[in-house]
Amino acid sequence: MVRLHMTKPTLCKASQEKSISAMQYWCRLVCVSTAVSLLALCVTAVDKGNFKTCDKSSFCRRNRALPKGDSPYKVDPDSIEVQSTGCAMDIINTRSNVVLRGEISTLEGNMFRLKIDEKDGLRLRYQVEGALVGRPKLEGCKVQRSSTGLEVTSETTKVAVTFDPFQMDFYVNNEIAVVLNSRGLMNFEHYRNKKEPPVQEEEVPEAEGDAPGDEEANEEVAEEEPEAEAVNVEDEEPEMWEETFKTYPDSKPYGPSSVGLDISFPGVEHVYGLPEHADSLALKTTNDGDPYRLYNLDVFEYELNNRMALYGSIPLMLAHNWSKTVGVFWHNAAETWVDITNSAANKNILGKLLSYFQTEEEIPQTDTHWISESGIIDLFIILGPRPHDVFRQYSSLTGTTMLPPLFSIAYHQSRWNYNDENDVANVDEGFDAHDIPYDVLWLDIEHTNGKRYFTWDSAKFPTPEAMQDKLAAKGRKMVTIIDPHIKRDSNYHIHKEAESSDVYVKKSDGGSSYEGWCWPGSSSWIDFLSPQNRRWWAEQFSPDKYQGSTLNLFTWNDMNEPSVFNGPEVTMHKDCRHGDWEHRDVHNIYGMLQHQATAEGQILRSGGTERPFVLSRAFFAGTQRFGAIWTGDNKADWGHLKMSLPMLLSVSVAGLPFVGADVGGFFMNPDPELLVRWYQAGAFYPFFRAHAHLDTRRREPWLLESDKMTVIRDAIRIRYELLPLWYTVFYESTQTGLPVMRPLWLEYPRDKNTYGIEDQFLVGDSLMVRPVTEQYTTSVHLYLPGATAVWYDYSDYTPYNGATKYYINTPLDKIPVFVKGGAIVPKKMRVRRSSSLMADDPYTLLVALNTEEKAKGKLYIDDGHSYNYQKGEYLVRQFAFSNNQLTSSSGDPAGSYVTKSWLERVLVVGVAKAPSSVTIQTGGTTNNLQFSYDDVNKNHVLTIKKPGLNIATDFTISLNYS
Ligand code: NOJ
Repeated sequence: MVRLHMTKPTLCKASQEKSISAMQYWCRLVCVSTAVSLLALCVTAVDKGNFKTCDKSSFCRRNRALPKGDSPYKVDPDSIEVQSTGCAMDIINTRSNVVLRGEISTLEGNMFRLKIDEKDGLRLRYQVEGALVGRPKLEGCKVQRSSTGLEVTSETTKVAVTFDPFQMDFYVNNEIAVVLNSRGLMNFEHYRNKKEPPVQEEEVPEAEGDAPGDEEANEEVAEEEPEAEAVNVEDEEPEMWEETFKTYPDSKPYGPSSVGLDISFPGVEHVYGLPEHADSLALKTTNDGDPYRLYNLDVFEYELNNRMALYGSIPLMLAHNWSKTVGVFWHNAAETWVDITNSAANKNILGKLLSYFQTEEEIPQTDTHWISESGIIDLFIILGPRPHDVFRQYSSLTGTTMLPPLFSIAYHQSRWNYNDENDVANVDEGFDAHDIPYDVLWLDIEHTNGKRYFTWDSAKFPTPEAMQDKLAAKGRKMVTIIDPHIKRDSNYHIHKEAESSDVYVKKSDGGSSYEGWCWPGSSSWIDFLSPQNRRWWAEQFSPDKYQGSTLNLFTWNDMNEPSVFNGPEVTMHKDCRHGDWEHRDVHNIYGMLQHQATAEGQILRSGGTERPFVLSRAFFAGTQRFGAIWTGDNKADWGHLKMSLPMLLSVSVAGLPFVGADVGGFFMNPDPELLVRWYQAGAFYPFFRAHAHLDTRRREPWLLESDKMTVIRDAIRIRYELLPLWYTVFYESTQTGLPVMRPLWLEYPRDKNTYGIEDQFLVGDSLMVRPVTEQYTTSVHLYLPGATAVWYDYSDYTPYNGATKYYINTPLDKIPVFVKGGAIVPKKMRVRRSSSLMADDPYTLLVALNTEEKAKGKLYIDDGHSYNYQKGEYLVRQFAFSNNQLTSSSGDPAGSYVTKSWLERVLVVGVAKAPSSVTIQTGGTTNNLQFSYDDVNKNHVLTIKKPGLNIATDFTISLNYS
């Protein structure tokens, strides 16, 4: 159904004037209600002209054009100051004589930090606040100097600094891992005074005889000239002081301020991370076009296999090869571009690499070039050397994921829009009528009173609390959308308060509130940079302020790149002001700070007792601490389904594990096969939500033919039966920083076959999923890693050997999921309406034996919603199988949560022959257990029935062979 006001020609016209992107949104809406001929006008691909290429961005162009191998930077040896945890030094630009101050610190756990800033700059440069979880912990080191350089060594790492030209070589376990400025592309555009164009002097006729006073005047001028030179004005280039993109001027009052650095990874062919792009997991070289761009943008109908910027940015890159995994975190929130090229490693590097490289020819190298528009060079060098180490190290800097409430990792039902309370009730009942579990129903922008967030359309949602209570009675929750733009309406309480509390982003003059165009029409944007403003925002979530909300209502922060329909590149003008800083300095962190403030608001409203759930579209390094993100406006086509996997994996390896993509595709209508396959993939996304555009046909699962509906239902049920595993993996992620959804190379770092795989992934380390993402496909290729591994098909326990490629049958009801031999997977097998109704349900343990007939696993339990787990109210159970015995013992620390759940069943897969008896021993007593053994299909499954103990009990189950 199309909303009346959206079809008004005046609005469409206004939006056309305002921006192309907004026009496209409206246009799609108009399309549904008007003649088919109009459809042709409504483009279905990104309009690239709306977005900058490097060429259209002066700082990117300048940095990219720098000549290689000609670095002007050198260290002044006299300036070196040695500290117990590193050293500081002046780095001089020998061309401009501008002096920078560099600081190298050794950080706990195999990391270094390099900070370079101007020494005596004209003004302070922005340093990111909010991405780091605290002050990184410093570690003691030794500094040794020579005439040409110095070495900083800690227990396991070392960095060698060369003075002239400035270069840094980082080592781990005596192997060179990361090299800075070896290609001489370091660049630091210092703040400077604008060079005024030379004043055209009027020709003065020569006087007859010089007066003495004239001489003096000439002398003064002569003295001033060298001073002007001393300001170090480098060659001016066009667009250094202002530039215009399309019709949007950027005033750039402080002139050029970019920073750039080349970072090389000798011996490495594969680099990952750097989200968000609709592109491959293993990053590609950029010789054929633009660099990867990091600049949070609302890109309408984004294109696949493209390095254009999207909604979120995490400037973290991981470099991986057979011998090590390392990372670099470019701690900068301004617009950033990253070039990637491959080369053969420089000859003088050969001796510094491990000997697994046999010959010179074999040694690859990945070279990267990082360019940001402003800020400082603040680089963390994360030296692994194993993949798991890198995640621990990076998360020690920016935090691990918050532990999500259990409901939020179950299934979510969304569309733009569920129209009114009746619609909500019908959809809710539809799930029950068809026996499909779901946990959360979402309301998009139409639920509000005219896109005034924190309000309800009272005609359609007259009793929002009662509506939420009805769902809550079945253990279900709701989510409403709350965007960062606020309608400028003097009768709207949020706007009035925002104005009087002075919490809006300011125009470039720093005085009046910035105004732009978004869903509500003329809007202003909350300035989330200020902690006071974040507090103000957080307070808006208290139920007495947010009328109609209950504690079962959670939040969706959309459009927070921020999306400004009439702004340059559909975002905020870079010369807007956030206090002392320009928007250009902080753009990429803006959305995350809204996410943070919203999550804090939810915590606040419960008096600090309940965990929040907030979905955000924009993200940055650190977002993992505040909730989930999704990949924005994808399309109901096979390409987007396929691309969802590398996109989610890229975000995951950048330290943000709670990620999903719109199941079914946002734009357009998926055919039944696509929708089924998307649900099957989505059931294994960490964040599992179906969502659709306003003008798409309704697609709740029961609207499909019943055979398709059944397959979708089965996929959703698998998600619910595996919730104990998902929750445990999320818990582990809070402890280790490891992603929940993992690329294969992360667990099999020495298996080169895995380095390029992006259509398969692991859930934790125990399940391998290869969703079918191709149309009309009844069989797929896949690779099972691990030289001595065995994997079992999740649906029938057929065993498969590792380190082997397979071509397996995938009829429509088949999701290729494999359990790793060696894993113990906790499950709950009873179908309920929502996850919270399963709280006391009994467990099944799936024990998948490896080739040594061993397995181990873990189960984490708590109340699923509060912070009591932080007070010790949780349970960790450790399971281990070896020597024909399964033991359950408490983890360390064990926790004190009391659960009613008991152990209903144990399936042991891969048992060579049937035991003669099975006994359980607990607290000094031993009892026989019933069991059955199935080797009919040669799958060797032993089913042990009703051990019957509370899951918190220590026990040993023995398979006895007489
Ligand atoms: C853009 C979001 O990406 C989409 O998911 C949402 O439905 C629309 N905004 C309307 O709020």
